[in-house]
Amino acid sequence: MAIRLSPCSSTSNTFSSSSFSHGSIPRNSYFPTWASLDYSRGHHGRNFELRSSNLQPLNAVSLQAGVSANPLPKEHVETQVKEESSSSSKSEKAESTLSIVVVGASGELARKKIFPSLFALFYEDRLPKNFTIFGYARSTMTDEELRNMICRGLTCRIDKRKNCNEKMDQFLQRCFYHSGQYSSEDHFSKLDKKLKEKEGGRLSNRLFYLSIPPSIFVDAVRCARRRASSEQGWTRVIVEKPFGRDSKSSVELTRGLKEYLCEDQIFRIDHYLGEELIENLLVLRFSNLVFEPLWSRNHIRNVQVIFSEDIGIEGRGKYFDNYGIIRDIMQNHLLQILALFAMETPVSLDAEDIRNEKVKVLRSMRPLQLEDVVVGQYKGCTEGITSYPAYTDDPNVTKNSLTPTFAAATFFINNARWDGVPFLMIAGKGLHSKRAEVRVQFRHVPGNLYKQKFGTDLDKATNELVLRSQPDEAVYLKINNKVPGLGLRLDCSDLNLLYKSRYPREVPDAYERLLLDAVEGERRLFIRSDELDAAWALFTPLLKELEEKKVMPELYPYGSRGPEGVHYLAAKHNVRWGDLSCDDL
Ligand code: NDP
Ligand code: BG6
Repeated sequence: MAIRLSPCSSTSNTFSSSSFSHGSIPRNSYFPTWASLDYSRGHHGRNFELRSSNLQPLNAVSLQAGVSANPLPKEHVETQVKEESSSSSKSEKAESTLSIVVVGASGELARKKIFPSLFALFYEDRLPKNFTIFGYARSTMTDEELRNMICRGLTCRIDKRKNCNEKMDQFLQRCFYHSGQYSSEDHFSKLDKKLKEKEGGRLSNRLFYLSIPPSIFVDAVRCARRRASSEQGWTRVIVEKPFGRDSKSSVELTRGLKEYLCEDQIFRIDHYLGEELIENLLVLRFSNLVFEPLWSRNHIRNVQVIFSEDIGIEGRGKYFDNYGIIRDIMQNHLLQILALFAMETPVSLDAEDIRNEKVKVLRSMRPLQLEDVVVGQYKGCTEGITSYPAYTDDPNVTKNSLTPTFAAATFFINNARWDGVPFLMIAGKGLHSKRAEVRVQFRHVPGNLYKQKFGTDLDKATNELVLRSQPDEAVYLKINNKVPGLGLRLDCSDLNLLYKSRYPREVPDAYERLLLDAVEGERRLFIRSDELDAAWALFTPLLKELEEKKVMPELYPYGSRGPEGVHYLAAKHNVRWGDLSCDDL
């Protein structure tokens, strides 16, 4: 059988954009990125309109970086030419179809996030008119069983419209299942046959979502590419983290994927980049005069990027014990937030321009050293009649495991903007609260007329900007304010933009935005391979040292605020942590 190849050309995007049904936005109009935050009524009178992240003309997106860095084999180029010529037919575009294959469909992520997000997109009329969803995994399941599984995870949460059940039925009728091995080309050929039946001879675009363990990514990609990629339309592959365990394994994974795909086809997902507040970070920075001029060492004392979960590893011991919190949360989610926070102004909102700036700032950062880090692990504890498990109580974790469930690290960025400003990154499981936020602490007001009113602790009088992604999205600024009355008493108050009060509408799940972007070929919120390399370069030496020296994590009780050591680390860099806020950290 001939090996089929997937187009890598940017022209393939025109298929995706034109294939959208009613309610879509003219792709040749310019919409700045904040259009994605446009809550105006859509064509169907909907309250909330979910759009892809960057609504610039898709053919303006430069897709060449990855391709030129990785010259295409002749076979790719031939397909690319074929793709370009076939892209010229408008009627073909109108009649194109999208097939989404969820590889690992029997898993938790598929059930909890991917299928519900696809349903939400369908509900919002964001999927093309002609689309089919296939679940693929080794488990034996009928179409009906897959539908039952999906159905259990679907909700009518969007606006509780009356026709939700009807929409669910329509959605489920588009869902099918194919059982197969991840390394069997033969099984993927059979999948291809079924896909073709559903595609009915239309020009087809195919999106594979690899929701499987990374050890089988390359096998699945090889089979999908050789036996089930689109012959005329585009083929894209969404890859879930973890993207390796360190620099070396990440490079190997990238090399493995690029044997069968070009960079443009690989959509490395980091769901934190699809979070509403994280998207908003750029809008706040670059469209408000009041923030950007303050965004530097001149005014900012320190920045804290915090992730905390009030649950443990919840049965994911097998995965987690091999990765730990630094790889699970810091190297990807928190570092991505930090990069967006600290990067220079991009030339445009184009995906490549933004990703170029992210790479630049990551490369300006000093790789972590042991003395920059505190690691911890939760231990069991009992509160009243309730007992909480230790990390090592998980059946898939060894009793003497040194894997950290908590880490705090201080980064420095060696550039003119951020020289000397500590970026304190904190991530932990089994803590007292669920939280994901960025806290920006500003410097003291020079010659503050009111300093007598603050007592001896001037730090407490500094402004703080908080961007809270979870729980309850909010942006708030702590200011000093006069307490009304005849005396002169000051207090710390918030200018508070609480999303649920200001925007009483559903905030879409991060996976919805990212899936929509992948369908539309918008790469801005996906991680490019050079970004990944730069990210691993910051953590790999530290991870190696922690493992070689068998560094003992400091134990902290489940449900507490984490190890004591984090206070010392913060104090070493003159960062006040956890005791400055008006709110409870
Ligand atoms: P699962 O472990 O549930 O795996 C998904 C499916 O892959 C399983 O249903 C199983 O399907 C198949 N599978 C599992 N282990 C193996 C194996 N060793 N060899 C071959 N097939 C296997 O993962 P999740 O659904 O939780 O997550 C999917 C991917 O997304 C993983 O890579 C994970 O690291 C990543 N991820 C998950 C997150 C989450 O919150 N769950 C968050 C971020 C990333 P079958 O046996 O039917 O073939
Ligand atoms: C995943 C991590 O990437 O993110 C999990 O693997 C973590 O360990 C999860 O629990 C947190 O995501 P969210 O969206 O619940 O904050």
